[in-house]
Amino acid sequence: MNMTSVAAAPGAAEPPSAFDTGYYDLIAYVVSNAIAGEIMAIENYSEMVHLMPTTQAKIETVMQANEECKHILLLSKLGRTLDIGVQRRIVEPQWNTIRKHFSNAVARRDLPACLIIQDLMTETMAILLYRTLAAEAETDPRTAQVAAAILKDELEHLEIGKARLRELLAADPAAVHDALAWAHHRVMPELFAMISTSCHFLCDDLGIDCGSLSLGSIRTDIEQLRVRGLELYVETLDSLFDPKITNPLIASMSAYEGASNMFPQAASGAACCGSQAANRVPAAAASCCGPAAKAAPAEAACCAQTAGQA
Ligand SMILES: [Fe+2]
Ligand SMILES: [Fe+2]
Repeated sequence: MNMTSVAAAPGAAEPPSAFDTGYYDLIAYVVSNAIAGEIMAIENYSEMVHLMPTTQAKIETVMQANEECKHILLLSKLGRTLDIGVQRRIVEPQWNTIRKHFSNAVARRDLPACLIIQDLMTETMAILLYRTLAAEAETDPRTAQVAAAILKDELEHLEIGKARLRELLAADPAAVHDALAWAHHRVMPELFAMISTSCHFLCDDLGIDCGSLSLGSIRTDIEQLRVRGLELYVETLDSLFDPKITNPLIASMSAYEGASNMFPQAASGAACCGSQAANRVPAAAASCCGPAAKAAPAEAACCAQTAGQA
């Protein structure tokens, strides 16, 4: 374990309190989970190549898988440079759950669902992760440098996905909207569950004390990160879909564990109609308790809860 403190550049903000064991434990944990996400991304892109409609799109998808390979190598090298142990296999079960849903979509030849899971949802959360690690005021310079390089690719992957989905939306909007609702209720709870410093097995695998991990060493906290994740997800959805489609989905996230800061009024049972997401997209209040919301169990539970408080 590298215990060396990293000096701040002259004039730079004061570095995190200490690049000490706690900091490097956190980076080992985050980098290991990031590698798992990259492994899943390689498998997802590889599995959907045959669904892509043109040779050019197949080549582009293989290139995306190749870039995810490069990310694993960069993250592994970062682990060696920092002298921290990183895991190069999927440990946390959420990744396998998402992979299973993706494979189900492939089996149905549901290309919109595949693109939404990998290109929109997973890439959006990857952008959140690498943007956080790339903030030089929060992390050490080597981690920030590697994260910034990967972030550039992930931003491109998101744009590629948006362009593909715009074509599919123009051809068959209903199919894409169905795919979005299907993927949202299966994948987003898993991705948000991973915005956490507690794990199922990863800390044991890394020999880290799970309870000792804190984002304090990178000057942020889980609640901030979840809010940023929600905002980024809303931004991604808003760039492609009508709020009438997305508002019930966003409102359903108030039921997620640890959502109280994402949706400050969730604890009072008024999350549907008073949430932060609803403030960003005012129609959320109306649509989350409308007929569309009743179609999905998560929204129905949310609306029932709200009605019960009324
Ligand atoms: Fe990646
Ligand atoms: Fe990616």
